[in-house]
Amino acid sequence: MSPGLLHALTRAPIGDARREHAARRYRPTKRDFHDMPALEYTLNSNNTEHRRLRTQAANLRAHTKTLLDATDLKPASSAIDLGCGPGGALDLLAERIGADGKVIGVDFDAASVAGARAFADERELINVEVIQADARNTELPSSSFDVVHARLLLANIPRPDEVVTEMARLVRPGGWVAVLEPDVALRACYPPHPGLEQLTELLVTVARRGGADLCIGRRLPHLFATAGLINVGIRARADVCPPRHAQRVVCLDLVQNIGHRIVAQGPIDQRELDRLDRDARRHLDDQDTIVVPVTYFLAWARKPRR
Ligand SMILES: C[S@@+](CC[C@H](N)C(=O)[O-])C[C@H]1O[C@@H](n2cnc3c(N)ncnc32)[C@H](O)[C@@H]1O
Repeated sequence: MSPGLLHALTRAPIGDARREHAARRYRPTKRDFHDMPALEYTLNSNNTEHRRLRTQAANLRAHTKTLLDATDLKPASSAIDLGCGPGGALDLLAERIGADGKVIGVDFDAASVAGARAFADERELINVEVIQADARNTELPSSSFDVVHARLLLANIPRPDEVVTEMARLVRPGGWVAVLEPDVALRACYPPHPGLEQLTELLVTVARRGGADLCIGRRLPHLFATAGLINVGIRARADVCPPRHAQRVVCLDLVQNIGHRIVAQGPIDQRELDRLDRDARRHLDDQDTIVVPVTYFLAWARKPRR
């Protein structure tokens, strides 16, 4: 990203002529789309995954609003959505910040960046810019943003502490870091289903082998404190998801997403995985089955004023 655009994004009130000038001048560079290093990320980015993420974003709206309420995000503020995927919380942030604020979506995946830009265009979110960058090293200016938000990013990558360190670097003194992450160990299904249990355990194990912790939710306060953040707050949210609710099968959808890796590493072949998946989905279709698929932790913290 050019220093001119950076200056415009971080200093000029977005929505005015300077913002439009900056946006007009910005053209994705070769670096944006071709020179990104291969970064580790547990999930595969494809159309099915993008559709799942958009539906999930709608289902997580209320929890994300609760999280943002804790950050005191005001009109005309600046915010980042790190690992925004094909939309993430860009709309919620943009809504709160208004036309005089600015929101920057960041994702390292070119298809997600394109999806997020389309998402912002469709909703006419004129105060949103989306850039392609590594959440561990965004190259955005230090101590410049009122709120730095990330949702479902830390659970899916190795070395999440490096992202939290980057979040603490980006936020201004007195500003807020806000994160929503899962804890897959805190789930319930009654009556229990051995196939669902087996697939969920395989998901957690394969993610862990790749360095990712799908039970990271409970660790968030510790990660924040280690990064020097203060005034840490945390809440947990666990929903009973009824039949046909998309989140009811979230763990099975994630297993599908990384199925090839489970088969490559795992004790089961593709046919067995498909059979377990079918059985588990049938069990979850039953309206008498009670499902809390996962618990989400909402955590926030402040950067000390100097
Ligand atoms: C599970 S998705 C969540 C997307 C979005 N935050 C939401 O709540 O819908 C995680 C996103 O993080 C992105 N991501 C993973 N590792 C990243 C990294 N090192 N830097 C930037 N983005 C990353 C992925 O491309 C993906 O879009």
